[in-house]
Amino acid sequence: MTFSVVVLAAGKGTRMKSSLPKVLHPIGGKPMVQHIVDTVKKLGATNIHVIYGHGREQLQNKLSHNGLSWCLQEQQLGTGHAVQQAIPYIKDNEDVLILVGDAPLIKESTLKQLIAVKKDADLALLTVNLEDPTGMGRIIRQGEQVTAIVEHKDATEQQRQIKETNTGMMMMGGSDLKRWLSALNCNNAQGEFYLTDVIEMAAKEGKSIHASQPSCAIEVEGINNRVQLASIERAYQAEQAKTLMLQGVSLLDPSRFDLRGEVEVGQDITIDVNVIIEGKVKIGSNVTIGANCILIDSIIEDNATIHANSILEQAIVGQHCNVGPYARLRPGTVMKEQSRVGNFVEMKKTILGKGSKANHLTYLGDTEVGEGANIGAGTITCNYDGVNKFKTFIGDGAFIGSNSALVAPASIGINATIGAGSVITKEVGDNELAIARAKQRNISTWCRPEK
Ligand code: UD1
Ligand code: CA
Repeated sequence: MTFSVVVLAAGKGTRMKSSLPKVLHPIGGKPMVQHIVDTVKKLGATNIHVIYGHGREQLQNKLSHNGLSWCLQEQQLGTGHAVQQAIPYIKDNEDVLILVGDAPLIKESTLKQLIAVKKDADLALLTVNLEDPTGMGRIIRQGEQVTAIVEHKDATEQQRQIKETNTGMMMMGGSDLKRWLSALNCNNAQGEFYLTDVIEMAAKEGKSIHASQPSCAIEVEGINNRVQLASIERAYQAEQAKTLMLQGVSLLDPSRFDLRGEVEVGQDITIDVNVIIEGKVKIGSNVTIGANCILIDSIIEDNATIHANSILEQAIVGQHCNVGPYARLRPGTVMKEQSRVGNFVEMKKTILGKGSKANHLTYLGDTEVGEGANIGAGTITCNYDGVNKFKTFIGDGAFIGSNSALVAPASIGINATIGAGSVITKEVGDNELAIARAKQRNISTWCRPEK
């Protein structure tokens, strides 16, 4: 049977104390509701309806690429009222999977199992046993049979002893859902329309209600404040770290590793502590990454070494390259194989040719460097006149003396040499030596002033 999904995301998230809607707070760099949408997309739902209320523009902007159906819940009158907002779009003959927007770690396998359970029942319920079930809806059973859910605030002392709780996730037929929702009332401790009341209605109609459980309680743990946000983040990072280690990556301390995006890895990669990976990153085999590096949307090829405290963004580092410590590779940097950059070297929109080196204190912007060139310490490409950017070309085998300023547009020929301290404003031909600095004068008659 076809099915649609309803994601409840209209709650304000008051306890986050934030101008950002709760479900947009990130886990692993991605809005928590996007995690749920990504997981749901793998299930093959016909439609994904998102119930929203607060921060509508922010939500729609952030999630615009997902092809979602948006259902406004003007006032948050309860979870049952929330699902009612999707009813106009629900078909009688489809199943409806209801999820909450603030439990981002829910697994595809758990939802698949819930969908499978629904195949043999009229209503499938995802429940979880909690040591401390305070605040949660309790699952009421008569014998094995689920007969109702009672909210914590409405529960008797005896019911509060029950450890089996409602995760808020369930699945049922469209026509059943419509009938039950239209019969809801708000005669309860919170004066809300509870979605959970449909369970008792189903039981009273003699419908079969089957429950299934997630593989781990963390999957269904909701986030209500920033303490829970941080704890879910750690759980998520621990899971990702484990996956990487099982793929052949050594993390020197998995609790000090953060992946906020996706990484594709080869084998025998070693990653030291406090490395952050963001966006889409690809790391080849036998790569070593030093402590405190940040890698964003970059590619690092086999046998490269990234030393500590380097920051790479939209950069490509070729095979056997060496980067850092303290290097900054900005967007558009391409290091060809066996090239090296050392400490306090910044590159932007620059190609560093095979085997070329810039080992210390250098800025190369909008530059193409050929093969086997040596860029001395303190070399600066002056690529910007305050309005326009200009390019610099440095030929194969060129040697740029320390503390040179190459005023772009600049062209340095093959095997050319630039004397240290030069300010280069004219083209330098192949094999030429260019020196552009004040000549040294020694004054032998000089008398140093005396006190
Ligand atoms: C709900 C369940 C409870 C369950 C718990 C699991 C009900 C009545 N109670 O309680 O049995 O144990 O979740 O976390 O369903 N929302 C809306 N519109 C509303 C109200 C809520 O969209 O008017 C959304 C919230 O944004 C949230 C979800 O529904 O994503 C759950 O709402 P919340 O207020 O957290 O419900 P609980 O009281 O925790
Ligand atoms: Ca909740």
